[in-house]
Amino acid sequence: MRLPVRQRPAILRVTHVPFKAKSPRRRRRPVCVCTAAGDPARTRRQRQGRGAGMNRHAGCIDMDWAAFDPWRVQAVRHRLMEHPLLQPDQLVEFGRRLERAAQLYSFSNDATAGANFSEVGRTNPNRKSAQETLQDIGHAKAWMLLRHVQGDPAYRGLVDSVLDEIKPQVEHKDPGMCYRAGWIFVSSPRTVTPFHIDRNHGILLQIRGSKTVYVWDPDDITVVSDRARDWFHGHRELALVKWQEEFRARAHVFHLQPGMGVYMPLTSPHMVETSDEPSTTLSLSYNTDASRRNVLLHVVRDRMRGLGIGLPPVGRRPRFDAWLHAAAHAADGTRRYVRHRLGRPAHFDGAPYASDD
Ligand SMILES: [Fe+2]
Repeated sequence: MRLPVRQRPAILRVTHVPFKAKSPRRRRRPVCVCTAAGDPARTRRQRQGRGAGMNRHAGCIDMDWAAFDPWRVQAVRHRLMEHPLLQPDQLVEFGRRLERAAQLYSFSNDATAGANFSEVGRTNPNRKSAQETLQDIGHAKAWMLLRHVQGDPAYRGLVDSVLDEIKPQVEHKDPGMCYRAGWIFVSSPRTVTPFHIDRNHGILLQIRGSKTVYVWDPDDITVVSDRARDWFHGHRELALVKWQEEFRARAHVFHLQPGMGVYMPLTSPHMVETSDEPSTTLSLSYNTDASRRNVLLHVVRDRMRGLGIGLPPVGRRPRFDAWLHAAAHAADGTRRYVRHRLGRPAHFDGAPYASDD
């Protein structure tokens, strides 16, 4: 849910340079918003974009784009740690505003990896306010998510600046970037983010503190079955996504420090454990043509199973998937058109920015 316009105070001073040029004839190159131009931690080779295996242009994100595969988990580096919008005092103020707009999700750090991520806010509630939690996250024993930060103009600028920067490289292999969203996780020491999957490609960027991220391949049906994926996309809930300790041995494990991150394709199962210090993480998510296609195929499979019709797993028979997607895409377009004509809201995962979900 986007914040109402009247609840969007322009409180923050950022070093962001607007991406969109005013002149329609000339489009500016994306400008990095990170404040690390003089970061002594960066070597001269890095500042010149000559880090081994990394991209060749200065920016917020370093990633091995030659090896980039939109359906493969991959390490990322970034330079957003000192960004003004991600500093603790700004996050306290932003959290207070999001609390009024019901855009927070929080739980106590007694939750375990096996908790249902969609339900844990109710089963393991954090009873402190946003201000209490964020001001003293070191002792709050809580996990707090600032949701859909792109609803705020300043934070939307941050989301856009980073995604605009990487969009050319992403779309070279995975066209159709849309449905952009930003999320900020603030966690107390020794807090677990329960095992779950998401509906978008995502990039986790560690801002402060350290954490261990366990990520499984997006097609690892040992840890999340085909049926659980169908159910997740069709019902938008995690009832069939179940944690087992043995899964750790199959995971890609990332020990994230500030400046490090990880790219996770759509529906990559993941679970996160913070260390003995508080943690702040920025997550950026988006859809592409291929991710939307994948979601729609899972939704159709789920619907067909409900009618007693079994279909082959997504990806098993490409020609059948292509036919099924064409039919489902046409039906989905018709459904949204009818709802639009009736004046009813229609969820559209191809919109420029994510709506509430
Ligand atoms: Fe997630």
